[in-house]
Amino acid sequence: MFDLQRLELVDTEGTVPASEPERQYYYMKKCRQWAEQERTRTARPLTMSIQTLGCQMNAKDSEKITAVLAYIGYQETEGPAADFVLFNTCTVRENANMKIYGRLGYLKNQKKKNTRMKIALCGCMMQEPDEVERVRRSYPFVDLVFGTHNIYRLAELLYLQICSGQPVVEVWEEAEGIVEDLPGRRKYPFKTGVNIMFGCNNFCSYCIVPYVRGRERSREPGEILEEIRGLVKDGVTEVMLLGQNVNSYGKTLADKLSFAELLRQVNEIPGLQRIRFMTSHPKDLSEELIAAMAECGKVCQHLHLPLQSGSTEILRKMNRRYTKEGYLELVSRIRERMPDISLTTDIIVGFPGETEEDFQETLDVVRRVRYDSAYTFIYSKRTGTPAAAMEDQVPEAVVKDRFSRLLKEIQGISAEITDSRVGQTLPVLLEEVNAQDEGLITGRLSNNAVVHCRAGADQIGQILTVRLTESRGFYYMGEIV
Ligand code: 5AD
Ligand code: SF4
Repeated sequence: MFDLQRLELVDTEGTVPASEPERQYYYMKKCRQWAEQERTRTARPLTMSIQTLGCQMNAKDSEKITAVLAYIGYQETEGPAADFVLFNTCTVRENANMKIYGRLGYLKNQKKKNTRMKIALCGCMMQEPDEVERVRRSYPFVDLVFGTHNIYRLAELLYLQICSGQPVVEVWEEAEGIVEDLPGRRKYPFKTGVNIMFGCNNFCSYCIVPYVRGRERSREPGEILEEIRGLVKDGVTEVMLLGQNVNSYGKTLADKLSFAELLRQVNEIPGLQRIRFMTSHPKDLSEELIAAMAECGKVCQHLHLPLQSGSTEILRKMNRRYTKEGYLELVSRIRERMPDISLTTDIIVGFPGETEEDFQETLDVVRRVRYDSAYTFIYSKRTGTPAAAMEDQVPEAVVKDRFSRLLKEIQGISAEITDSRVGQTLPVLLEEVNAQDEGLITGRLSNNAVVHCRAGADQIGQILTVRLTESRGFYYMGEIV
C-alpha cells in the first residue's frame, strides 16, 4: 500500500530523483501541490472518473492509476463529467475500440463546459500505433495518452501536461523491467488482484494481446509474497493472482519457481482465506498444478480454462497447441482430483474457416464438460494478427446463428448446474450492497457464483455460511445460517 509518510519526506525543491519509484513519488508531490492551488483557486475539489474496459489486468491497472490520482488530490466521482476522465482501454475485440471513440465524441462537448477537464487514454488500445495516430489526428483535445508498460509514470506525465498545457503522449513498445512499490488502491477493502506476471508469449493466431502487452515477465516470488502479506495485514482476505497465462509463471526468473510452487507458498500466508487465479492456458496446466490446487485449502473451487474451440482443426489454426481430446482428458484429470470444482471458459465463434462440423465439435465439448458459465465471443478480426490474413472469414449471418445456438446451450447447462446446488450450505464472502435492493448483500461462493442474501452492510467483507434457498438462472438467493 501507499506510504503517505514516504510522500511527506519527498523534497520537491531538490533535484528530480533518477531512480524509480522515487522519481514518481517526487512527481506525485509536485502534482499534489498543483492540485492544492487549483482547489484554492476554484474553491471546489478536483474529481476523477476512471472507466475501465476489458479484463482483470486492466481492473488492476486502474486500481494503481486511481491510487496515484487520489494522492495527487482527485476525488472519485460517478458519471463522466469529472475533472480527470480516464479510459483504460481494451483492444481484444474491435467494437471495444469503437466504443471509446464514441465516448470521446461526447466528452469533447463536456470539456467545453468544464475547462478544467483533462481527458486521458491508456491501456491496450494505446499500444497500437494506428490508434494513437488516430487520437492525435482526430481527437486533439485528449490531454494524456500512455500505454500498458509505463503506467507507473502517470504522475510524471501528468506533471508534464500541467506545465506545458499540451497533450502528452508516451507509449513504449516493450516494458523496461518491473517497477515495484508504487501505490495501490483497492476497489474492495477485502479482496484484490495481485499481478504475478505480465505479457504473453503464446501468440494465439487471433489474439492481439502478445503485441500490446509484450513478452512474458514474471515478478519475483519474494515481492509477490511480501505484497500479499502486506495486503492481508491491511484487511484483505481474498487475492486473485493475475497473469495472461499464469501456468507459465516463473519461466523467466533466474531462480525458477513453478506456478504450483508459488500457489503453495501463497496458501501458507496466515490470515489469507481465498486464492483465485486467472488465466490458465490448457496446454500448460501441469499435474503438479492440479495437485497443488487440490491440496491447498485456500484455493477456490473454480478454474477458468479457456477452450476457444472444440475442433482440433480450428485449435491448430488458432495455434492453441492442444486438441479436443487433450482438453477433455485434462478436464477429467482435474475433476478426478477435485470433483466439485466449477469450470468456466472462453469460446470464440466464427474463427476463419470454422465449418458447421467444427462448430458441432465445440457444442460437443460444451455438453461434455458442462461449464458453470462461459464467456462467448464473436471472432473479431484484429489487424496484424495471423488470423486476420486467413481466408474463409465466416459470413456474419452464419456466425450470429452459431453464436445464439451456443449461448442457448451454455445457458441451459448453466441453469441446470445452478439449480442442482439449491439447498446446499456453503461459505459466502459478502461483497457489496445490492444495487437494486439495499437490504440485500451480494456475495460470492468459492466457485465464484453470485449469491444475494439479507444481511447488514456492516457484515461486508466477512465469510459467512449461507444456505442456498433459490436459483435464479445464474445466481442464488440465500439465507445466512
Ligand atoms: N476475437 C474474439 N475473441 C477474442 N478473444 C481474444 N481475441 C479475440 C478475437 N480476436 C477472446 C478469447 C480470450 C478472451 C479474453 O477474449 O476467448 O480468451
Ligand atoms: Fe491471447 Fe492466447 Fe495469450 Fe490468451 S494465451 S492472451 S488468448 S495469445
